[in-house]
Amino acid sequence: MKALNLLLERHSCARLSAPAPEGAELETIWQAGLRAPDHGGLHPWRILHVSGEGLSKLSDIFAVAAEQNRGDVEKARQMPFRAPLITVVIASPKPHDKVPEIEQVLSAGCMVHAMQMAAFAQGYNGIWRTGPMAYDPIVKQKLGLAEHEHIVGFLYLGSSQISKVPSRTLSTDQFVSWL
Ligand SMILES: Cc1cc2nc3c(=O)[nH]c(=O)nc-3n(C[C@H](O)[C@H](O)[C@H](O)COP(=O)(O)O)c2cc1C
Repeated sequence: MKALNLLLERHSCARLSAPAPEGAELETIWQAGLRAPDHGGLHPWRILHVSGEGLSKLSDIFAVAAEQNRGDVEKARQMPFRAPLITVVIASPKPHDKVPEIEQVLSAGCMVHAMQMAAFAQGYNGIWRTGPMAYDPIVKQKLGLAEHEHIVGFLYLGSSQISKVPSRTLSTDQFVSWL
C-alpha cells in the first residue's frame, strides 16, 4: 500500500473478528509503534499485549472495576471480546528537564496511531478506544501500571467485519488558516 494512500484512506473499524495479526505481522506492528516520534529518545511507553486467555483476564478486570463503580458489570465483561487482540499502550513518562510529561504522553499516542496504521497496511483493521476503563485506578493497578503511568489506548485489532468503507473527507477550509 502506498504511504499516502494509507494516510488518506485509514479508517477505524469497531466490528472486528479473527484472524488477528500474529507472528511477523504483529512484530511489524510493534516495530511501527516503537518508531513513534520520541523527544530525547526517552522511550516513555510500553505495550501490553492481550489475546487468547489474556482477553478473559482483562474481562475479569473490567468486571471488577465495573462492580466497584456500580456500573454495568456484564457490559464491562464483554468489552474485551470485541476483537481477537488488544494492544494496551501505556505511557510511562520519565522525569526530564527538557521533555515535559505531555510530550511523552503524546509520543505514546503516536505509538497507538502508528500501530493502527501498520495493522491497516497489512490488511487488518482496528479501533483506538479508551473510555472509563482506561482511567480506572483498579484497572491500572491490576494491569501492573505504576502510579505515574497512563493507559493512552486500548488498540483493538483484528479483521474488519464491515465491507463498506466510510468516506469522511473533511474540507481543509474549515481547519486551515494562513498567517
Ligand atoms: C484518545 C482516543 C480515544 C478514543 N476512545 C474511543 C472509545 O473509547 N470508543 C470509541 O468508539 N471510539 C474512540 N475513539 C475514536 C475512534 O478511535 C475513531 O477514531 C473514531 O471512531 C473515528 O473513526 P476513524 O478513525 O475511522 O475516523 C478514540 C479516539 C482517540 C484518539
